[in-house]
Parts: sequence; structure tokens; C-alpha cells
Amino acid sequence: MKTKVIQEKFKSLFETEGAFYASPGRINLIGEHTDYNGGFVLPGAIDKAIYCEIKPNGTDKIRAFALDLEEYAEFTLDENSLPAKSWAKYIYGVCREMMIRGATVEGFDTVFAGNVPLGAGMSSSAALESCFAYAVNNMFKLWFDRVELAKIGQATEHNYVGVKCGIMDQFASCFGKTGSLIRLDCRSLEYQYVPFNPNGYRLVLLNTCVTHELASSAYNKRRQSCENVVAIIKNRHPEVELLRDANLDYLKEVANEVCPEDYIRAEFVIEEIQRLLDACVALEKGDYETVGKKMYETHIGLSRKYEVSCEELDFLNNIARECGVTGSRVMGGGFGGCTVNLVKNELYDGFIRRAIESYEQKFKIKPKIYDVIISDGAKKLSI
Ligand code: GLA
Repeated sequence: MKTKVIQEKFKSLFETEGAFYASPGRINLIGEHTDYNGGFVLPGAIDKAIYCEIKPNGTDKIRAFALDLEEYAEFTLDENSLPAKSWAKYIYGVCREMMIRGATVEGFDTVFAGNVPLGAGMSSSAALESCFAYAVNNMFKLWFDRVELAKIGQATEHNYVGVKCGIMDQFASCFGKTGSLIRLDCRSLEYQYVPFNPNGYRLVLLNTCVTHELASSAYNKRRQSCENVVAIIKNRHPEVELLRDANLDYLKEVANEVCPEDYIRAEFVIEEIQRLLDACVALEKGDYETVGKKMYETHIGLSRKYEVSCEELDFLNNIARECGVTGSRVMGGGFGGCTVNLVKNELYDGFIRRAIESYEQKFKIKPKIYDVIISDGAKKLSI
């Protein structure tokens, strides 16, 4: 157990004991690149998390040990003290964002570790942000609610990491609930828990184990394309603030005013927002075949229109199709990471065997397989 090794390290480094917190990674069934366009998403927290032990140390310093990397960092929370190590930037950013919102954050000691695979599209960074946001809030008895904690994590990405992400990952990490997906309206932040127990099916992630360079700049570029299109549509339809407010007719009207690349990106987003709504209707009826079809459509859109897939992801998606898997698509930001697959129980073993064999043969790497267990969001652990 991660908590046991954390406990030992904390004791040996700081000669005391602290409190334990955890916050999970996430999956997303459908609704990709819709969050920063004010659309809907359908994520759920998973049984893989970042865990930390933490205790105030009575100084103005953060002393932090990243157990999985065996790296130590010490920094203050002064405005110009952004630490050099990338994992430390997340902790610093979360605390700074709390201070900007009026909180007093004092020094603390911490050791953390996790089992959310890095770069796999399961939001290990949101898990890290949410773990520290929840822990610091609870430990110093601050007043932030979970929505604000999610926003603090998102602002950390924007202001200290440079990824202009939406709110989905942090929201799922903070609000996850065992057995339920979260249908989140990313504009109003209204949400509903949607029980997800697809009888006769399993949800499984296949990790390509590749992450492509420049994923974050490519991500920001996609966001920029969406904003470019909104700015043009707004000239004719001033009420349009986000692509969520537009439709395909509005988009067609400006076809000659936006560049072809921005056009096709926006088209994907508008279609994807509708696809999620259709998938939710199907889910309510227990119609998983339709949900699965929508997932394949999302994959094609992400691959051909939004261009955030890659050869490895397309390969795994094709195998799923050939094996008769109900639904399959690239999950998360893209450019590597996992496909999420909805597969009938009786097809599961054959599909996994075939995927591992053919992927390994083609790419000389073994894909990793994770069965999805939808779990709770950020919490304090009693240890
Ligand atoms: C990343 C971002 C999210 C979201 C997804 C794509 O995970 O952090 O905000 O935009 O990509 O849906």
C-alpha cells in the first residue's frame, strides 16, 4: 500500500506523523474537449489516486518529498518562489491560488506518492492538485468548497504549468462518487450523478504507453482555435460566448471568415457536445449499444477533425472495432495515453489478448490494461 511507504518515509524525514489525504484520477466516458467550450462532460473518479501525508511545520517553508521520483524540494510561498521541479510547481500553485483568494497558508511537511499512471490521460496532475487543495484546505481549516478547490486546481494548471485546461479533471477528482459518473455542465458547473453499472459490460482502459511531445502546446492551440471561431461568430450572434452557444448553422455562416483548421476543430466540438447529450439519453435507457456507437464517433472526430489521436491510439481503436467491442475511443486530452473501451463480458478476454499481442508485435511495447472501478473523490483517510 502506498500509504504505508509514505508513512515510513514521512517518519524518517520529519520525525513525526501527519494526516493522510487522497484524491483520484478520472476516466471520461464521452464529451472530450468540450469542457473549455462550456459544454458537457461525463467523467468519473477511479480507484487510482495520489496520496499524501502532511503536517504543518510552524515555519514559512514547504518541505516536500515525491516518493515515486525520490525527489525532495523546499520552497516558500512567496510570489517569486516558483520551484524548479515540475511536481513542486503544482503544490506551490495550489497554495498560491488559495492565498490569492484570501487564505493564509503556512508552511508544512509532506510526502506523497500515487498510482495514477503518468501521461496516460487519467489526470495524474489533477489528482495531485486536488489532493493538496483538499489537504491544505482541511488542515488549515480554510473555507473553500469543492467547486472552489476544483477551480484552484484548474488555475494552477493555467498560471503555473501553462496548460489552459478546462475544469473536468479537477472537478471529477474532487466530486467523484463510487458507482456514478458525473454529468457536468461546464458552463454553469451544475452536475448530476449518473449511476453507471452497465450490466453485462465492462469498462477497460488500454494504455498505449506513449505520450507525445508538445502535447500541452498542441492542447492550447486547440483551445485557441475554438476561441478564434467564437470571436467571429460573435460578430453576427453577440450572445455566443462559447462554442456551447453556437450550432452548426452559425458555424456554416462564417465558413469563409475562419481558417479551415479552426473551422474543422469547432465543428468537432459542436458535434461532440450534442453526442454527449445523445449518449446520456441512451444511458438512461440502458442502451449501451448506442452509447458505444457514440464513443466510436467521438474517436473518429478526435482523430480526423480535432487531430489529437496518434497512430498507436488509432491502432487500438481499430482492434476494438475488429473484435466487436461495443464502444472505444481515445480518452482525455489525447496525443497518447489510453483508449476507453466498453466491452461485453463475453468478448473481454479475447479482446484483451488480441490487443496485447498485436500492439506488442507492431510497436514493440506492451500496452497496459486497467479495469475501471468508479470510485470516490478527494478525501481525508483515517490511518
Ligand atoms: C485534458 C484537460 C481537460 C479536458 C480534456 C479533454 O484532460 O485537462 O480539461 O479538456 O483534456 O476533454
